[in-house]
Amino acid sequence: MSLERIQARLTDLRGIDPASLSRVGMTAAVRRRMKALDVSDLEAYADRVEVDTLEFDRLVAAILVHETSFFRYPGSFELLAREGVARTKPNSTSVLRIACVACSTGEEPASAVMALVEAGVAPERIHVEASDVSARAIEYARRGVYRPRGVLRLPDAQRRRWFELDGEGYRLLPSVRERIRLSQANALAPSFGIGAGQFDAVFCRNLLIYLVPEARVKLLETLVRMLRPGGLLFVGHAEVAAARAMGLTMEAPPEAFACRRVAQPTPLPAPKPAPTLPRRRPPPRPAPAVRPVVQDALARASRLADAGDLERARRVLQEAIEQGPASADHYHLLALVESACGDDDACEAALRRALYTDPQHDPSLMQLALLHDARGERGRARRLREKAARVKGDGDDA
Ligand SMILES: C[S@@+](CC[C@H](N)C(=O)[O-])C[C@H]1O[C@@H](n2cnc3c(N)ncnc32)[C@H](O)[C@@H]1O
Repeated sequence: MSLERIQARLTDLRGIDPASLSRVGMTAAVRRRMKALDVSDLEAYADRVEVDTLEFDRLVAAILVHETSFFRYPGSFELLAREGVARTKPNSTSVLRIACVACSTGEEPASAVMALVEAGVAPERIHVEASDVSARAIEYARRGVYRPRGVLRLPDAQRRRWFELDGEGYRLLPSVRERIRLSQANALAPSFGIGAGQFDAVFCRNLLIYLVPEARVKLLETLVRMLRPGGLLFVGHAEVAAARAMGLTMEAPPEAFACRRVAQPTPLPAPKPAPTLPRRRPPPRPAPAVRPVVQDALARASRLADAGDLERARRVLQEAIEQGPASADHYHLLALVESACGDDDACEAALRRALYTDPQHDPSLMQLALLHDARGERGRARRLREKAARVKGDGDDA
């Protein structure tokens, strides 16, 4: 019960969808925080989280993944660079304004600056506003010293150009850091983005997937408002459908995961909260044993999709599916790849196969709901979300 209270607070204050979190990861984070405070009673800890905002922030930081990397989805930065060069012609004086919302430890805004300067944009014509709700992540970004593992993945020339050795790590040079203003901010706060002016590009990647529909729509409305008409919104590979549902048009190439604000967006009405429904556990369908080679393909395709290589990710998945037996996760990842490529029909077909393989695969239920949202089919979307919530509840009881 106390865990449910904590989850409800996460939703109320941060818009986080408990269905997007792993129950195991969440429980482990709560246990870690309880241990740090020397609290042994879960009920007492839930009471504390309700009154102690600092502890609430620490718990959120322990739960949310700050996973990020330099040049994550390289296609996004290639598109940004092309756009930047076009908008900062030598005879103009305009400054390119970029916002990085949920920038985690700063790799994303740094990559934006590096990509633009490497493409020939003068550094003084670049201004990046980067923010994250986590004070610790922002503190890390301000220090600007990164662990070798992330930096050593960059080509040698790039590493030498932008970093210097600093003890055990690599310090990002001031020429990049000077272009970025970092701040701690909750993107769901009503005041977020107000008075900041409009941006040529807004990055908000891999946050929308964690949010309940109401919070997701609210954040997307804020992001669209922050964009000047014609500006680009960069999202994560599983978030393109949500951005398109706001009336933005998908931008080529698909592996840039970008949408353009062309006209006034048509905001979605906030979906109604799912009513509490009686839980009925559907009869379990025996899952086919997935062979290790097919399992490896999933990891490989996931890495390729994350790197923006959608074509190869699709090929790897299709081969694995042909070899079979494939799991719902294979079909679900294929659906994300199809969605990122803008092929909604192929996305839907893959999701339906995922749900045929495992009718309780909640990521597929949620993704299919998103697809129906994008088509304005609110009733269908709502029913799928209700089903996902029921499935999640059943899983939690297990
Ligand atoms: C998975 S990371 C994504 C980092 C980066 N955008 C990327 O895609 O590589 C998600 C980030 O969202 C941040 N976050 C979560 N809720 C937020 C909120 N309400 N406002 C701003 N940032 C938030 C977390 O602190 C975390 O750093």
